[in-house]
Amino acid sequence: MQNFKLNRDIAHLAVLQRTELCGHKLKKLRKLLGRYFFSVFLSKYFIDIDQISKNYFNLMYKEFLLLKNYINEYDKVLSIGSGIGGLEVLINQKLNNHITFIEKDYVSKKVKYGWDKENKEAYNNLFLLEKFLLNNGVKKKDFDLFDFDKKKFPHTKFDAIISLYSLDYHYEFNLYKDYLYKIMKPKSVLIFDTIRPEFFYSVFKKVEIIKQDLDTIHKSKRIACRDFRS
Ligand SMILES: C[S@@+](CC[C@H](N)C(=O)[O-])C[C@H]1O[C@@H](n2cnc3c(N)ncnc32)[C@H](O)[C@@H]1O
Repeated sequence: MQNFKLNRDIAHLAVLQRTELCGHKLKKLRKLLGRYFFSVFLSKYFIDIDQISKNYFNLMYKEFLLLKNYINEYDKVLSIGSGIGGLEVLINQKLNNHITFIEKDYVSKKVKYGWDKENKEAYNNLFLLEKFLLNNGVKKKDFDLFDFDKKKFPHTKFDAIISLYSLDYHYEFNLYKDYLYKIMKPKSVLIFDTIRPEFFYSVFKKVEIIKQDLDTIHKSKRIACRDFRS
């Protein structure tokens, strides 16, 4: 597999979730015409779907190469804020993992890149997420989808929990803290991006910085955490 199968609606979501996919021209137009016009129109109708598909695949493959060092074959994986799920497709196909998703099921009219204190923003559609997974070879028995806003989460233990550019990047870690405490075993790993890695030494016994994004506005670091402090 060299790229993902996606249609215009799914490519649109991918661009909203990862704006680096849209290229310089579209970014300039976004500055000129504003975020609303960008979110509902430009990012949907002014994109080259094949190019987005290749770029999204390459981006997710890079993420996979880093994360595969922390996820074992057949681990039970939970993904919080997966976006359309390209990384999870690769994890499922290469490591045979069952993946549980918790995501939101709506698309904000304006893409906001900063901290979303009330966690009102979302860029996903669970029907399209499922379609993307099935179209790209993930079997129905290999995944479960949960809508964050329905507040009914699975109460099983997970080996690996991933949340790229979502938990503690757009919204407070505290939103999930009690839930994560219940579903993590001491050896489970939780991987996410944050601008305050030091804070997490007080939450977990082990914290490892595995990636740094120092040239972006947010200057976040990706951390792998294990063993909740009680
Ligand atoms: C910047 S995107 C990142 C998507 C993907 N992880 C990636 O790296 O490409 C953030 C995602 O978090 C989702 N999100 C926002 N609030 C959430 C919540 N409370 N629980 C789960 N997902 C959430 C959004 O819908 C969006 O898909």
